[in-house]
Amino acid sequence: MGARWWDAEGGPETVVERLDGVDYLAGDGIGTAAFLALRMGRPLLLEGEPGVGKTALAQALADAFAVPLFRLQCYEGLDASQALYDWDFPRQMLRLRAAGVAGVSDVAALEGGLYDRRYLIARPVLQAIEAAPAVLLVDEIDRADDEFDAFLLEVLSDFAVTVPELGRITAEVPPLVVLTSNRTRELHDALKRRCLYHWLDHPDHEHEVAIVRRRLPDVGERLARDVVRAVGRLRQADLVKTPGVSETLDWAGALLVLGVRELDADSAARTLGVVLKHREDLEGMRGAGVARLVAADA
Ligand SMILES: Nc1ncnc2c1ncn2[C@@H]1O[C@H](COP(=O)(O)OP(=O)(O)OP(=O)(O)O)[C@@H](O)[C@H]1O
Ligand SMILES: [Mg+2]
Repeated sequence: MGARWWDAEGGPETVVERLDGVDYLAGDGIGTAAFLALRMGRPLLLEGEPGVGKTALAQALADAFAVPLFRLQCYEGLDASQALYDWDFPRQMLRLRAAGVAGVSDVAALEGGLYDRRYLIARPVLQAIEAAPAVLLVDEIDRADDEFDAFLLEVLSDFAVTVPELGRITAEVPPLVVLTSNRTRELHDALKRRCLYHWLDHPDHEHEVAIVRRRLPDVGERLARDVVRAVGRLRQADLVKTPGVSETLDWAGALLVLGVRELDADSAARTLGVVLKHREDLEGMRGAGVARLVAADA
């Protein structure tokens, strides 16, 4: 890769420390994966259950290294004009009109002038290439059609974009590219080969308690432990939607607002809608379900 754009000496533990500095508590696995992605100039592909901190990791890496983040949210039908660039048609038309009013006669020069950088709207991939050092987050790539994998592979192979009217725009320093996927489809093998891969799991009990206490400092140790334990039990249950770290944080936050200090069956039942968003899941937890959720030694 080109020049290294981050100043951290050391290894994965330095990345973990920096992430800690921006309140993202990463395990060794993430530290190593992110360190290698930075060192080797390779994209980092993050897969995992919803709400385990994939998107937040990209933001945290940008914050930790004080570089901007550009986010490309993927969806079905996403194409190059939304990912790379588009011409600013209304502004081009205005320029044409103004030229008409002024009686400009040099049509060739006028036409050339319409394809000036000023009229180019950079989308996230081009923004990241032009602004690098930067983090480019390609979020939820599995939602885009699979042709998009091939397109992305091309961009990621040399961190350059060719605008026919302007030429080739190359990143001075390669951006750190983070791709996330919830695995609603398998990504193209060639794209995977290009990336370093990390599977993000739900954090273990202690790790999740630490995340809650870091993100919500007003939540006491007792409440944090109660909520994390209850969410852990929910994850073992057969649910339509398994709660992630976001739900743990939401739940602890809601209980905090209600002034609850310890989770009991009553407070859990009242607030279950913060964690479970499906009627079937809620109904399965009524009564004995809630009692089991908050029991001290289930
Ligand atoms: N290790 C962590 N340290 C600090 N906060 C975390 C950590 N993991 C997750 N979070 C927090 O959990 C929440 C959910 O994370 P995020 O939205 O990044 O999940 P996701 O994996 O992208 O989910 P989805 O697949 O639904 O998009 C965020 O508020 C994030 O800050
Ligand atoms: Mg996300």
